[in-house]
Amino acid sequence: MANKNLSSAKRAKNDEFYTQYEDINREVQAYLEYDPDVFRGKTVYCNCDDPYTSNFFKFFALHFNDFGLKRLIAASYDPSPIAGTQLPFEEIAGMQGSDKKAYVFDATEMPSLNKGGTVDLDDTKRLMQTVKEVVRPLQGNGDFRSVECIELLKQSDIVVTNPPFSLFREYISQLVEYGKQFLIIGNMNAITYKEVFPLIKKNKVWLGVDSGAKNYIVPPGLETERGNIAKAADGTCFAKMGNTCWFTNLEHGRRHQPLSLMTVADNLKYSRHKEIRGKAAYDKYDNYDAIEVPYTDAIPSDYDGVMGVPISFLEKYCPEQFEIVGTSDNGIIDDTYKTTQGLTQKFVDDYYRAGGKGAYQQGNPTAGLYVNGIATMIYKRIFIRYKKGEKA
Ligand SMILES: C[S@@+](CC[C@H](N)C(=O)[O-])C[C@H]1O[C@@H](n2cnc3c(N)ncnc32)[C@H](O)[C@@H]1O
Repeated sequence: MANKNLSSAKRAKNDEFYTQYEDINREVQAYLEYDPDVFRGKTVYCNCDDPYTSNFFKFFALHFNDFGLKRLIAASYDPSPIAGTQLPFEEIAGMQGSDKKAYVFDATEMPSLNKGGTVDLDDTKRLMQTVKEVVRPLQGNGDFRSVECIELLKQSDIVVTNPPFSLFREYISQLVEYGKQFLIIGNMNAITYKEVFPLIKKNKVWLGVDSGAKNYIVPPGLETERGNIAKAADGTCFAKMGNTCWFTNLEHGRRHQPLSLMTVADNLKYSRHKEIRGKAAYDKYDNYDAIEVPYTDAIPSDYDGVMGVPISFLEKYCPEQFEIVGTSDNGIIDDTYKTTQGLTQKFVDDYYRAGGKGAYQQGNPTAGLYVNGIATMIYKRIFIRYKKGEKA
């Protein structure tokens, strides 16, 4: 029990990292470029976001008028260590006389006090300090799964946030269950989760535009536990996370740009990757009828069959060019391509005989490959093939 409590405390701590304003801005611009009216007349809901402290809240509050929002809702979460840190509960008009610590900001207009008409953070703060109706305490702790938060979800059109990573499966499943549009940050490894991958495969969810390493704001005090914390001059602490990405079902133009690639022959001759250049052929997996392509830019333009590519391929995935047929976490799951074959006993034995580590057994979907005769497990792969007629 003690261990269980410890690991859930650790998980909760790992959920506490906050998105920078500029990262939100950069991503949202891509959707606005594609459709300048993407938020017009819409209710945006930030459901893991302490109003006023969260940059998601700030971003949509400041752009309420120029994006043409109909309504902005943001719900805080009681156990969050940052709730109420930038605007104390006592100063919020709608929280006066309440002993609750979770609340919802809910506004259908964002008045500007300055003559230019643009909304700034002082306007937002003033609104919360003076207009009782824009903030109300929640009955519970603001859990996105609570009945009252689901009720708010039902009333919203687009959910935008960075949710707790430890609950990502439940979080995205709930958005899909309620048929919401969304733009959320997650760990790239979530791509192969069984709750996520089928959505990606069916083009119901895709990656946003700005994946990769980002600095997230973290509560002070993590320095001793994590090595990668940087402190800014004002004391703000940042942790660098290399493998986060945006998951969305909002259209952006980038995903319709096909990759420009070289032929098999040219890759083998000229590829900038030493794993490919100079080889007689691409490697084939032991347990999949597919070639191993360790880099997205090494995908050959003229290969007919299935190719295993890194999960980061999805940053460049154009659904008009490629079809996704499986992952090495789940096997090839396309109904029309039933060649899934887990690791053979011989391969597993060869792997351990060669000093391999980890827990593998016959039948696992992990992609296995003999590299120079040595049985090697290949890290997460997505299996793709060209859409009919798209191969060069
Ligand atoms: C990764 S942080 C991001 C916070 C904010 N969205 C941002 O990007 O700055 C996730 C937040 O969700 C909160 N949280 C954790 N569990 C939650 C739950 N069950 N329901 C709602 N929020 C939760 C955490 O306290 C934390 O503040």
